[in-house]
This record gives sequence, C-alpha cells and structure tokens, in this order.
Amino acid sequence: MPIVGYYNGQFVTPNSGIVPLDERGHQFGDGVYEVIRCYGGRAFLLDWHLDRLWMSLQAIRIAPPFTKDECATLIERLIVESGELEASIYLQITRGSAIRNHLFPNPAVKANVSATVRPVASQIAKEPGTLLMMADERWANAWIKTINLLPNILAKQTAHDMGADEALLVRDGAMIESASSNLWFVRDNQLITAPADRYILNGITRRFVIQLADRLGIPVRETKLPAKDLATVDGIFITGTLTEVFPIHRVLTHPDVPYVSLPDVTGLQQLSADKCQVAWEARDLSLVGRLQSAFADAIATFAKSDR
Ligand SMILES: Cc1ncc(COP(=O)(O)O)c(C=O)c1O
Repeated sequence: MPIVGYYNGQFVTPNSGIVPLDERGHQFGDGVYEVIRCYGGRAFLLDWHLDRLWMSLQAIRIAPPFTKDECATLIERLIVESGELEASIYLQITRGSAIRNHLFPNPAVKANVSATVRPVASQIAKEPGTLLMMADERWANAWIKTINLLPNILAKQTAHDMGADEALLVRDGAMIESASSNLWFVRDNQLITAPADRYILNGITRRFVIQLADRLGIPVRETKLPAKDLATVDGIFITGTLTEVFPIHRVLTHPDVPYVSLPDVTGLQQLSADKCQVAWEARDLSLVGRLQSAFADAIATFAKSDR
C-alpha cells in the first residue's frame, strides 16, 4: 500500500514538497501534533487524542481550522485511503504560512493541517529494554504536545548512542518521563508514575493504563519518585501510543551524561558507550507482564468491535 500523506485538503505522497518555505511549523516549530494508533482499521482512543489536540491548540493560541467532528472524519478518511489495518497516524497543525516574523501573523492566517499514515507493527512482544538516565532539558510546558521536540530528540539519540532504547529524564531530582513515552515504576505491587502536571505530557496510553490498572485492582500512585530511590524499585515500564506497554529491565548511567542539568554539555558529542554503568536491574517484571497482556486483550477486543 502507498503511504498516505495529506496537506490542507489534498491527499499527496508524503515527500511531494508541498509545504511553503514561509511556513511557521517549518520555520519556528510553531505547531502541535498527535500520533494516533489504528488497530483493525480503527483509530484507538480517538476522542482522548482530539481533546488533547484541542488543549494543545488552545495553549499556544492557534484557532482550530475545523471542528473535532471534522477532524475525526478526516482521520477516518486517511485510514480508508491508506487501506491499512495496523497503522500510525501523524497529524500536525501549525499556525499557518506567513512571512517569517516571531509575532503571530496579523491578520491571522488559517492553520495548516498535515498528516501521514504509515503501517506499524505491535511492540508488545519485544524483549525488555534499557533506559539511560539523564537531565530533563525540556521547557516548563512539556504538557503541550508541540512539534518543538529538540530536547526530546537529543535525549533519545544520546540514549540510542549508548545502546539504550530510551532516556529516563530527571527533573528537580525526580524521575518523571522518557523522551517519547511516559515512565512507570513498580514497587510493592503498586504502580508509581509522575503526576500529569506541566512538566510531563499526559499520555493517552498513560491514561488508558491507569484505567486498566484500576480494572485489575492494581493501585496507582501519581507521585514523583526521587532518582535516589531507584534501587527500591522492582520493575519499570514505559508507555506510549506506538510504544504501547514496554517493560524495562535495566537503567544505565554515564559519567559524562549528568542527570542534574548542567550548563556545559559540550562533551556529549564524544561519549563512549564503554563508560556506561548499570544503575538498576529489574527484580520482578511479572506485574508489567500482566499489564501487557491486559493491554493486548483490550486492543484485540477494540480491533474486533463493531464500528
Ligand atoms: C514526551 C512524551 N511523553 C509521553 C508520550 C506518550 O504519550 P501517548 O501515550 O499519548 O502517545 C509521548 C508520545 O509521543 C511523548 O512524546
């Protein structure tokens, strides 16, 4: 199947060069986005994604170019056009096209909407992964799903370069999130995850897993776990729309990657993976396994349910 692209009302091939140079997403990262998972040809938790998208738009003062219903119809149309049953839908809305100026365009211009649909496979069966602990260098509004992702990209690339799957981000001494997923700890048969304040993205999968845990009778504490308490943790997992529920069996630290923010990061270019140290290893991932199975069951039921 061809990968479907969309830009302001037209279905296009994703790299057709249709975005103008004077486009605020392109020039400033002045926009917001959602990634939505499609299971069995249907968009999963679409209402929650649309609510969050509208919150992000409002937060950065972009007028939505359509209603939520019109947006849902567009997403359904994109899925049909792609012909995919298992897919990831990327939807981006930017402040529009205008001659480059930090100030918002005046008079206002219409927001630009772009999207792609790509086939994806479930992550549920993947082997447990590794995190690299480091300082959270993001701005103080990580709750907004903005397309400005430079600190996230650098964090994830650094983790990858050191042989880890994801970053474990520490802010004010607490382990709060990963670069593109929410972070969870298992301790004494309870789940611990950072509260959805301004410093983390309130993940749709995070919300869903809180519901799942409730159904399974697993207590969830929304609190910030200090980095110094890592050794007390039995298990770790991360969640995200494409990540789903992904168990973690190791946390690494690196002497040249600080987990308190430092002004001098010049050493980051020449990191050697040999210097990584294992700071934590999983003691018990059985509860994570239970959540993974419950998650897999929930999506299988969703994929088969009536339209
Ligand atoms: C920083 C960050 N945290 C958490 C998540 C998980 O959010 P969701 O479950 O809505 O995909 C993402 C997803 O992209 C993310 O970028």
